[in-house]
Amino acid sequence: MKDKKWATHNPNGTKRVIVTKELPGNRWLEVLALADCRIEICTSTDILPVEEIESAIGDRCDGGIGQLTEPWGEELFRALEAAGGIAYSNYAVGYNNVDVESATGHGIPVGNTPGVLTETTAEMAVALTFAAARRVVESDRFMRTGRYTGWLPSLFLGERLGRKTVGVIGAGRIGATFARMMAEGHKMNVLYYDPRPNPGLTNQIAAYGKFLESLGEEPVSCRRAESVEELLREADVVSLHTVLDPTTHHLMNAARLALMKDNAILVNTCRGQVIDEAALVAHCREHPDFRVGLDVFEDEPAMKPGLCELDNVVIVPHIGSATVWTREGMATLAARNVAGILMGYPVWKGPDVSPFLEGDPPKAAPSIVNAKELGLPVFAP
Ligand code: DGY
Repeated sequence: MKDKKWATHNPNGTKRVIVTKELPGNRWLEVLALADCRIEICTSTDILPVEEIESAIGDRCDGGIGQLTEPWGEELFRALEAAGGIAYSNYAVGYNNVDVESATGHGIPVGNTPGVLTETTAEMAVALTFAAARRVVESDRFMRTGRYTGWLPSLFLGERLGRKTVGVIGAGRIGATFARMMAEGHKMNVLYYDPRPNPGLTNQIAAYGKFLESLGEEPVSCRRAESVEELLREADVVSLHTVLDPTTHHLMNAARLALMKDNAILVNTCRGQVIDEAALVAHCREHPDFRVGLDVFEDEPAMKPGLCELDNVVIVPHIGSATVWTREGMATLAARNVAGILMGYPVWKGPDVSPFLEGDPPKAAPSIVNAKELGLPVFAP
């Protein structure tokens, strides 16, 4: 029995796909309808418990699109396989909510939505950095509560960031893009920590440094730190861009927070569990000049006690990827992942998924994270 309301699109489609939340735009619906799918969409904004998703899968379901708020693990993949399902896509680039091993064990390809979030999420990290550095939210509250009685030399003094050091932990697509925005836009030197070097980032910043020199200005630099600790000691801004896995859970704990400068800025747009949030609350209480910008939370949607009382923390509700273009693009990619597998298409290889956002996309599933484990054929252009 399904408790929540479900809407049906293209009721005569012969394949059945369940989608656990309404998604922005219409293109994704067209993609699935063209693949002869009947699409059943949960119209409730409540986070669906596993039992309700399982009951929605029922005894006949060809594929599903799920959310990062749902634990897609053994139970759901077993149910999906039993219902004849052969495709699943997360509506997210991150897939720490998915037990990929279980999906693979049940022969189910798992899609995600990379590429379309990169700049959008990096822009949110920039926004949070400056909101924290320049105390934008505190000042906004001050104005709205009628406390502004006139300009003062020391009202809401913040931090200037130009020519300081930005530390990026996790220099993949989003981290590297954020690093470039801060270097090229604000002439910050970049220090990054990533188990894998990112020569592309180093070269791009070196080229920008040369350009600055050609103007007679100081260049900017980019260096890979030997350790997280080295980065934390040196950086004025630290932005987190890692995946969430056992190696990054509570990466930022009390001991590591204590290494940071007292007036540093910490930004998190990746996953809440990368920070020990209780330790962060204690650190922010003791260090009023330390500032934080958070898009994600350890026990999302809840916040650890004390967090929302702190003036030195800016908090937003996991909206890093929330632009119309990005969220519609994510919907299109998720739909193409499911439709592609249902149509028997091979899997796209390569990081550029932009051809899938246009009118005449390749006949492939754009991003399947367990394609290799499942031995799926690769798209040959
Ligand atoms: C993701 O895609 O992983 C983000 O956290 C939500 O857009």
